[in-house]
Amino acid sequence: MPERADIVFRTLTRAEFPALQRWLNTPHVYEWWGRQAGRGALGGAGPDAATKEQVEAKYGPEVDGLGVTHRFIIDFEGAPIGLIQWYRLRDFPDYARAVGEDPAASAGLDLLIGEPSALGRGLGSGALDKFVTDVVFAESRVTRVVAGPAASNARSIRVFEKAGFRRIRDAMVPGEPVPAAVMVRLKNKPNL
Ligand SMILES: CC(C)(COP(=O)(O)OP(=O)(O)OC[C@H]1O[C@@H](n2cnc3c(N)ncnc32)[C@H](O)[C@@H]1OP(=O)(O)O)[C@@H](O)C(=O)NCCC(=O)NCCS
Repeated sequence: MPERADIVFRTLTRAEFPALQRWLNTPHVYEWWGRQAGRGALGGAGPDAATKEQVEAKYGPEVDGLGVTHRFIIDFEGAPIGLIQWYRLRDFPDYARAVGEDPAASAGLDLLIGEPSALGRGLGSGALDKFVTDVVFAESRVTRVVAGPAASNARSIRVFEKAGFRRIRDAMVPGEPVPAAVMVRLKNKPNL
């Protein structure tokens, strides 16, 4: 996939919390990232909607440099359209065990394209490919990147495949209600 020059990653700051709150409470996002997605998940409709305080409580500590998840805003042509994040699996050993991955070598990753007008234009797959190459694999010890979208999230699975990931197994992750499709991309072997 040719690298997209129109996509840029910027470290998440509090200035984007209102947009992030709006994205989390948008139906195509909360369908997969919302409260029912598992422990600690935010977003939904009505009483499930993420509040300003909840967004601060979940995302504030990492903005202050206290957490282990590295979060970035996805900018497209200079405007924010979504969130992408990565973390070392060694910091989440229970998750690593559940998905069957080596915690020493692997990073986990998640993304959302929050702006409905940005969907279906190749931006999710383009952002993913660029982020893995330029950000995650820039960490010398990370040789595998792993994502676990719900096995029923066909759109997301397709997007990971477009970005060079392969579905290598399905797994139940503690705290998540449905099986995850374990999608992996290797540093030195883009097609496994
Ligand atoms: C998943 C997500 C990132 C995709 O972003 P996007 O910018 O719309 O994706 P792209 O335009 O790059 O690619 C979409 C692909 O999915 C396909 N697709 C769309 N809906 C689909 C469906 N219901 N089933 C299967 N494939 C589908 C499209 O046809 C396209 O593939 P193609 O280019 O081969 O035709 C975005 O929908 C999103 O943020 N969803 C909510 C959060 C989420 O699910 N995150 C992923 C889990 S961590």
